[in-house]
Amino acid sequence: MISPKQLQKLAAEHGTPLFVVDHDAIRRNYAEFKKYLPRVQAYYAVKAEPDPAIVRTLYQAGASFDVASMPEFKIVYENIKGMPQKQRQDWIWDKIIYANPIKPTETLEQLDPYKPLVTYDNLEEVRKIKKHAPHVGLALRIKVPNTGAMVELSSKFGAAPGEAVDFILAAVKEGLTVEGLSFHVGSQTTNFENYVQAINLAASIFKEAGDRGYKKMNVLDIGGGFPAPYDATVKPFRELAKKINTEIDRLFPKNIEILAEPGRFMIATAGTSVVKITGKAVRDGRLCYYVNDGVYHTYSGIIFDHCQYPLKSFRKGPEESCAVFGPTCDALDVISMSNNLPSDLELGELLYSVNIGAYSHASSTYFNGFPPAKVVHINEKTASGKTTAPRACVCAA
Ligand SMILES: Cc1ncc(COP(=O)(O)O)c(C=O)c1O
Repeated sequence: MISPKQLQKLAAEHGTPLFVVDHDAIRRNYAEFKKYLPRVQAYYAVKAEPDPAIVRTLYQAGASFDVASMPEFKIVYENIKGMPQKQRQDWIWDKIIYANPIKPTETLEQLDPYKPLVTYDNLEEVRKIKKHAPHVGLALRIKVPNTGAMVELSSKFGAAPGEAVDFILAAVKEGLTVEGLSFHVGSQTTNFENYVQAINLAASIFKEAGDRGYKKMNVLDIGGGFPAPYDATVKPFRELAKKINTEIDRLFPKNIEILAEPGRFMIATAGTSVVKITGKAVRDGRLCYYVNDGVYHTYSGIIFDHCQYPLKSFRKGPEESCAVFGPTCDALDVISMSNNLPSDLELGELLYSVNIGAYSHASSTYFNGFPPAKVVHINEKTASGKTTAPRACVCAA
């Protein structure tokens, strides 16, 4: 794990606000995922943090990818563009899923020559795919319980289980191939029963499809949702993995490929932000710190992801509950109304937040003239495995 001393050194060298990405942590997370879910092929959900350097590290580690827009597809494609055509096509088929159930027709037309696996969850989409991307493979996204997830997704996507086989047969009738099913139990799912229920639901749909004559499905995509260890209440990943392994081995024969689309799990713990105190005031008896990063930038996950990233000080001192505000002139730009910090911090001192790698810098804006934080990559490796020096990259989110 990156040390406070190292963070201070990077801030001294590169300035603030900083978004530090530790590639050793990404490799560790990927290895942990593979270790505890050996039967599951991990497709990194690029939306969680689409920095090309992160995609490259996961590519080098052997990961597959979940993309949900054409620009994300292109970020992954950069890594394979030099492959011979046949090898590249096989790679795309084996290692990319386009997991946005609703796709503009232009996107479908651009995707079609690459023939990836794509998800769908309604009949209008079947008609669109038939017309604009008849060469892709299909996975039906089904609606599953998202109980207790930090970010609920089931009201936006997913065919109702009762309609699932009708939707599969409708696609097949159009001459398309449905390779299997996908679901998402909700992001940061700490209620592991969501996975158990979803896998059982999927198994019953596989069975119904078989009973109604369609036996070609050979893929189950168990989606994302794998929780990051934000605090001690999150049970260890191996406990979740044990439940998943038990259910997939019980319900799905070995010839069914199991995929997953972890985003947060891969990247949350690899990101750390460093901010500078730019103002200090007491309002209504509460000590307020103003810092140079906020909810329109690296801390955007507070709004979009319903996540909290407590700020820590680099030095000790008598603490009190403080408000911490971002740099913009907008009242929404509140990082916390209650963050324990030393009360004697001075302007120019630094604070940091750990576990801020997912859905944070990815949704950073330029609002109010403030650009996204500078990104610094540490522990990147070259293709030959040599660790490179820390590298700053002023790239748009
Ligand atoms: C289709 C799909 N797959 C995967 C993910 C990644 O989920 P997570 O970051 O919870 O693993 C998301 C997140 O929204 C998603 O919509």
